[in-house]
Amino acid sequence: MATVSTVGNETVHAQAAPGAKVPLVRPDLPALDEVAEQFGEILSSGRLSNFGPYATRFENELSERLGAEALAVSSCSVGLVFALQALGLQPGQKVALPAFTFVATAQAVLYAGGVPVFIDIDPDFTISVDDLRAVLAADPEIAMVMGVHTYGLPAQVDAIDAAAAEAAERAGHPIPILYDAAHALGSTVGDRAVGSFGDIEVFSLSATKTLVAGEGGVIASRHSDLIARLRAERNYGFAGSYDAHAPGLNGKMSEFHAVIGLHNLNRLDELMAQRAAKAAAYADRIVQETDFLPPPTRPGTAHTFKDFTILVPDHQRDRRDDIVAFLKRQGVDVRTYFAPALHRQGYFERFATRPLPTTDDLAARVIAIPFFASITDDEMTYVVEQLRQAQTNA
Ligand SMILES: Cc1ncc(COP(=O)(O)O)c(C=O)c1O
Repeated sequence: MATVSTVGNETVHAQAAPGAKVPLVRPDLPALDEVAEQFGEILSSGRLSNFGPYATRFENELSERLGAEALAVSSCSVGLVFALQALGLQPGQKVALPAFTFVATAQAVLYAGGVPVFIDIDPDFTISVDDLRAVLAADPEIAMVMGVHTYGLPAQVDAIDAAAAEAAERAGHPIPILYDAAHALGSTVGDRAVGSFGDIEVFSLSATKTLVAGEGGVIASRHSDLIARLRAERNYGFAGSYDAHAPGLNGKMSEFHAVIGLHNLNRLDELMAQRAAKAAAYADRIVQETDFLPPPTRPGTAHTFKDFTILVPDHQRDRRDDIVAFLKRQGVDVRTYFAPALHRQGYFERFATRPLPTTDDLAARVIAIPFFASITDDEMTYVVEQLRQAQTNA
């Protein structure tokens, strides 16, 4: 069966890592006969892209689900760059974001001309609102806040709104909020879908995500003026005629990707239910049979568990890398997402201007273990057994 092995978060091939008994991820994909008719139609009509009927339907159905207008784009990375520009980021302006995230979050800030200011995280892996508040109070030059719904656990959206509003009041101008929602298609806070928070949210649809289109992203916003700008940005800067008035690149989604996205959107509730039930069972077994700590959750929120990241207990922190090596030898495909945290990575060290104690602590202890909607009971049993053995044998 096709599985995905990754370097960083980049898909490098469609086979399990050599010798892996349990892959890190098995992407949710349609069978060929479920999309053959649509693919055939696209091939015979020649309508491959340029906001065709499948991409348009995908956007309409997503907009309905998210409670915000959704634009399909070619990747989350490019969507984040567009979003920062649509929010008016000027060259050299500072953007507050967590260092505990995938590199694309901060790359987007640099590409859009901004300067990252790294904020610490809370023990639940999402941005620390206390640290954010302190930085906003100390540095009036921070122009924007970028939260991340890490692994699919929503950031503390209400508290972030309040912190940005207080800072905006002091500054006398708005401080927009952007969410990197790469992991969080399917997450909710109360009865609201992630996608409807902040000023703009951006999802990823790559093979390791909860709604797979192959490659792709979705930009969502409730602000029609921002959506109008974003429409132009993903279409070379054109808005209605061959006369560009805005910045832009090719950020379009192809019809083939939209067909796969639509297929998975139609079964997203089913996939989320499978993920939630399996995550709860996995966490129970991990707690009962090992000393690892399961992923934090928060009452009132739905978590996608895009990654199922456990923590090595504090007293074994020095053994994390040995445990990872043991698990890989046993055929359990694991990663240390997100270590090194960004302020410890070569390209971003120059922005390591403040202490980030929780980020450093958790980055030293994380292990992302295999998890996906179709993971079997036997696979989970095998992983938990290897985790148990790793604590004594690694
Ligand atoms: C937090 C985060 N942001 C952004 C991205 C980039 O997404 P894409 O590969 O669709 O550009 C990823 C990819 O894994 C991610 O994990």
